[in-house]
Amino acid sequence: MLVLGIETSCDETAAAVMKDGAVLSDLVASQDEVHSPFGGVVPELAARAHLERIAPLTRTAVERAGIRMSDLDGVAVTAGPGLVICLLVGLSAAKGLALGLDRPLVGVNHLDGHLSAIFVDPGQEPPPFPFVGLVVSGGHTALYLVRAPGDYRPLGQTLDDAAGEAFDKAAKVLGLPYPGGREIERLALEGDETAIAFPRPLLDRPDYNFSFSGLKTAVIHYWDKIGRKMEERADVAASFQAAAAEVLTIKTLRAAAAAGARAVVVAGGVAVNQRLRRAFAAGAASSGVAVHFPPPRLCGDNAAMIAAAGRRLLGAGVRDGFDLPPRAVWPLYGR
Ligand code: KG4
Ligand code: ZN
Repeated sequence: MLVLGIETSCDETAAAVMKDGAVLSDLVASQDEVHSPFGGVVPELAARAHLERIAPLTRTAVERAGIRMSDLDGVAVTAGPGLVICLLVGLSAAKGLALGLDRPLVGVNHLDGHLSAIFVDPGQEPPPFPFVGLVVSGGHTALYLVRAPGDYRPLGQTLDDAAGEAFDKAAKVLGLPYPGGREIERLALEGDETAIAFPRPLLDRPDYNFSFSGLKTAVIHYWDKIGRKMEERADVAASFQAAAAEVLTIKTLRAAAAAGARAVVVAGGVAVNQRLRRAFAAGAASSGVAVHFPPPRLCGDNAAMIAAAGRRLLGAGVRDGFDLPPRAVWPLYGR
C-alpha cells in the first residue's frame, strides 16, 4: 500500500510517502527561522508558511519516492491536536488530493503519529506489547499504555506546560534562541548539573501526571536571584535539564512497572535529548525494562510517522469523510 502522509499541526510542514513498511521519501520544512525572532510559534505566520510550502513539498515528496500521484492508495493527514489554522492547511491539501485522485482519506491523531514513529525504521527492533509510551514534545507530555497497535490507554499527562515548552521558556529566560531545547542541551554540556537543586515536580505523587511550570518558574527565580550571572548560565541549564530528565524517567518507568510492561517508548521532539536518553537507559537497565527511541530524525514533527499511523488505520478499513474537521484538542484513545 502506498500512503502519502501530511503534517502541518505546528511549525513544521512535512510530507512523506510510505510503501508498506518502507519510507520512500520523508521531507520536513522547518519554520524555525520564521518564529525565532518572536521566541515562539506565531500561529498566523506558521499557517502562511504551511500554505506556501505544502503543495511544492508534497509534489517533491512524491517525485523523490519515484512514484506518480496516481499511484497513491490513500492519504493520511494530521487532524489534531494542534493549531487549528495550521491543521486547516494540511487538511485542505489532503482533501484536495484524496478528492482529485479518488482515494481514501484518513485523519491521524498527532500523538498516535509520534508513538508510531517507533515502527517506521525497519532496521530497528520493534518494542514488545504492551509497552508504556511517553510523548514528550513542545506541545505534549503524556503517558500511555499501548496494548496493541493503535490501542492507547491514557495513564497521565502534564497538568500545565509540556516538557519541551519548559525547555523553550527556560532557554528564552537564559537568552538562548528559539527553539530552546537543543540550545539548553548544548549549553548544559559545559555546566555542572548538580550545582542547583531545582524541584522535581509531582515526583512524590503516585499518579502519572507531570507538571513543568513550577520547574520553569524556579529557573526564572534563581536566574533573577543570582543577578543573571553569565558564569552560572551553563550550570542553570544543566541543573534544569537534569531535573526534567529525572521526573520524566522515574514516572515513566514507574508506570511501566505498575502495568507490567516490558518496554517503554520515548517519542516526540524532546526525545532527541541525549541527557534524557542516558537517564532512561540507566533507569531501564536497573529495572529490567527495554527502552526504545525512534531515530532522532523521526522524533520531531515529521510526516513519515503520520504515514505510518495512517497506513495502519487505512489497512484496518478506517476512512474519514471530506467533512473531517481540525481538532485543537483530541485525546488519544484506542480507535
Ligand atoms: O515534536 P516536536 O517537533 O513538536 C511538537 O509536537 O511539539 O517537538 C518540539 C520540541 C520543542 O519544545 C523543542 O525545544 C524540543 O522539542 N527539543 C528539545 C531538543 N530538541 C528539540 N528538547 C530538549 N533537548 C533537545 N535536544
Ligand atoms: Zn509533535
